[in-house]
Amino acid sequence: MSDAERVSNAPPVRPVWRHPLVLILAAVVLAAVASLNIAAFSFGEQAPWLIGASLLCDMLLVGAGVAVAVRQALRADEQTHRADRISAQARAALAESSARLGAIVDSAMDAIITVDQTQTIVLFNRAAEQMFRCPRDQAIGSPLDRFIPSRFRAGHRNHIESFGRTGVTNRRMGVANLLWALRANGEEFPIEASISQTIQGDTRYFTVILRDVTGRKQYEDALKRQQYELRMLSAQVQDAREEEKTRIARELHDELGQLLTALKMDMGWLRQRLPGGDAALADKAAKMTETLDQTVTSVRRIAADLRPLMLDDLGLSDAVSWLVEDFGQRSSVRCQLDAPEGDALHRLDRNVANTVYRALQESLTNIARHADAGNAWIMLALDNGAIRLEIEDDGRGIAPEDLSKARSVGLKGMRERGRHLGGELEIARAPRGGTRLSLRIPVTAQEGSET
Ligand SMILES: Nc1ncnc2c1ncn2[C@@H]1O[C@H](COP(=O)(O)OP(=O)(O)OP(=O)(O)O)[C@@H](O)[C@H]1O
Ligand SMILES: [Mg+2]
Repeated sequence: MSDAERVSNAPPVRPVWRHPLVLILAAVVLAAVASLNIAAFSFGEQAPWLIGASLLCDMLLVGAGVAVAVRQALRADEQTHRADRISAQARAALAESSARLGAIVDSAMDAIITVDQTQTIVLFNRAAEQMFRCPRDQAIGSPLDRFIPSRFRAGHRNHIESFGRTGVTNRRMGVANLLWALRANGEEFPIEASISQTIQGDTRYFTVILRDVTGRKQYEDALKRQQYELRMLSAQVQDAREEEKTRIARELHDELGQLLTALKMDMGWLRQRLPGGDAALADKAAKMTETLDQTVTSVRRIAADLRPLMLDDLGLSDAVSWLVEDFGQRSSVRCQLDAPEGDALHRLDRNVANTVYRALQESLTNIARHADAGNAWIMLALDNGAIRLEIEDDGRGIAPEDLSKARSVGLKGMRERGRHLGGELEIARAPRGGTRLSLRIPVTAQEGSET
């Protein structure tokens, strides 16, 4: 600890002579000497020893007074010396700390610029010199505006002034938008900055700490571009799959379906012409008819699973009703559907209808596979220029970490398809305890979709 700190931290010492007991003692001594002097003055002629004693006491008192005065003068002198020494040490410490601060500011990786209230630069560190390609002696004394692209200057000036009025000491700049700065060679570059203010005397100073984020911006732009390309690719793959499924479903339904129907009719014809009395033959023919019926049902189911052709022929409402009914029959989950009747959703864009249908299909599969639910509520509506699909179950509920499972693509694909059409998907815990999934796709966006 330095002397200056020791002095400033020490508790104040009260001089001994200011102690009440000492003061009382001094008053008693003074009163006694005064009484002795009065007695010597009154009875001195009869008792000369009294005058001698009084003189002796007076001399002792004066001597003590002089000694105290000299001691006080010496102590005051010593204190003045010590104060001088301490203030010299404090000044040296201050100079050393300013130099250290200057070195820190200069070695900082971020550019640091301080301006006064007229926004004239008063501090410009080494990183700022490198970032703005401008030597310090040219920057100091010049307006901050020279490092801001002209179209942002007025706004920036107002921003600093209004920040000064807030009284807030520190704030990140450009939270909503990316900030741009200007190098001395006229090149613009993106920055991240924070601003702080201090008042010294009558002047308000603003310090801006900034970082060149050109590299990060390029990286982010490249990432965004890649994400966009991947999204486009994924949409195209989905569309191609959808087309393929539709084609196979049509062929299964039309070609194979018709062939099987023809086979069934032939089988009926054959059974009628079987020679009577051969039970084994009749039995075999009945079994073959039964297998044929099962094959027809299987082909229909496979075709419908691939793509319900009624989605194209009858529209989304009917296709959804069929899907929910079929799911209810195949699983033990009781389903309630609330969907518009008639052809309200008949002329819906094909991509939107596909996406909603596939989302419902995936959600119902998920309920059967993961939810352990007894009931499911499905709501389909067209409101405020958007189609809304909500599926809720009363199962075990979905955990946040379930959404990021690396190998699970059902919900991710659903979100991606919805987003591609300008929509959004929300997955949350349902009020009844299970899972609620809500997909909203604007139907006005259908013309703009690129698939
Ligand atoms: N209704 C639900 N109730 C409870 N958990 C669910 C529900 N739906 C989904 N999950 C959880 O979310 C996870 C992710 O679902 P997602 O559909 O994305 O993938 P998946 O069904 O596991 O596999 P797939 O890629 O074949 O669809 C599931 O593994 C499951 O743990
Ligand atoms: Mg799934």
